[in-house]
Amino acid sequence: MVSVYDCSIIQLPKINNRAGNITIVENLNTIPFEIKRVYYLYDIPGGEARGGHGHKELQQLVIAASGSFDIVLDDGNCKKVVYLNRPDYGLYIKPGIWRELVNFSSGSICLVFASLQYGEEDYIRDYSDFLKIKKKNEEI
Ligand code: TYD
Repeated sequence: MVSVYDCSIIQLPKINNRAGNITIVENLNTIPFEIKRVYYLYDIPGGEARGGHGHKELQQLVIAASGSFDIVLDDGNCKKVVYLNRPDYGLYIKPGIWRELVNFSSGSICLVFASLQYGEEDYIRDYSDFLKIKKKNEEI
């Protein structure tokens, strides 16, 4: 069964010089899946939370492209809080993990690389459904 400890920080390559930094994300090279979709969250009002769901198949790499926020990971047994505040660090989230994004700093941007195109059928939006699926399905 997938656990919060299977979700880890990936340090992305960073090229820096006097004029600033470049960080690179490449399919199957810097990250362990093929990118099918990129989206980003921004203009997040103070005190708001995002996420609050799980995914059946989707893999994601989440980056604080600007500012900072916390990601609360939950595998049905354990919870882990990951603080992101560097554009060259990404959190790799496996399927079968309930996640909530909280404590966004003002003006922060949450950049997400995803392994699948958007599909509502991949979401688990109800926490008790999530727990039931985790209990009966060893795979996620
Ligand atoms: P959702 O993934 O629930 O947002 P978050 O996890 O950031 O709180 O998505 C919010 C809405 O946006 C929902 O109606 C689905 C829609 N959406 C898309 O249409 N395409 C996408 O790629 C994403 C991520 C969301």
